[in-house]
Amino acid sequence: MKRSGANNADGAKGGDAEWSRPTQWVDIHCHCLPGLDDGPGTMAEAVALCRALVADGCTTAVATPHQLGRYEGLTPASRIRWAVHDLNAALLDADVPLAVVAGADVRLDERIPALLDAGRILTLADSGRYILVELPDEVFIDLSPLLVQLAERDVTAVVSHPERNAFLVRRLDAARPWAEKGALFQITAASLCGDFGPEIERAAWYWLEQGTAALVATDAHDLRDRRPRMSQAFGLIAERLGHGVARWTCITNPAAVLAGTDVASVNGSRKLGVRR
Ligand SMILES: [Fe+2]
Repeated sequence: MKRSGANNADGAKGGDAEWSRPTQWVDIHCHCLPGLDDGPGTMAEAVALCRALVADGCTTAVATPHQLGRYEGLTPASRIRWAVHDLNAALLDADVPLAVVAGADVRLDERIPALLDAGRILTLADSGRYILVELPDEVFIDLSPLLVQLAERDVTAVVSHPERNAFLVRRLDAARPWAEKGALFQITAASLCGDFGPEIERAAWYWLEQGTAALVATDAHDLRDRRPRMSQAFGLIAERLGHGVARWTCITNPAAVLAGTDVASVNGSRKLGVRR
């Protein structure tokens, strides 16, 4: 049974003094590179966002600027890799102990398999194993054909915050066939905290409770409206589903994505994703 979250210091819903705070976690979805997309505009803002991630217990962030969609041609793989290099140098200068690795939040597009083959879009942490796929917000497009093509390449799709798709939030089971075809669901921490409204909050919790979603990430963009919310989300998951589920979805599985190893259902009972 969900207990209503107390307001924390900044007035946002998100747990209470009984949080168990996560440490040593990996963020697999974060817009932390400066001047590339709708994340931080400057290096100073990027460093400040990374400092906030560290304060929240994050050790490594996969930088996932948008690729394709409205960023078509603006964020090529080479530009992302250089930006990751520059941000890591700035973090070293600023004494911010966060490692940043390359990735992308790739807008759903029928060219994804060919662009992947050509090295023009990035997988998470450049491992070649997991690709973060962003759905359009408003319309429903069946992922199944893409999942088949990715499976032929031993690549698993990580669906970026499905709870923010206007169709899926009303038809929660419409995404089930994707999970059966090996897609993983990444829920955004702020969705679990209610930052995007009750409908998105309900969908996020539904997939987490069903065990369909095995990954939580921040999708942080800035320190204003889209800031890291992992501690709050971790506390709420621990409170509602147990500490083990919180650890598995916020710490263990994201670390596996970073390492390019197997992601598993809660408590490791079943491997998820494309079978290798
Ligand atoms: Fe994103």
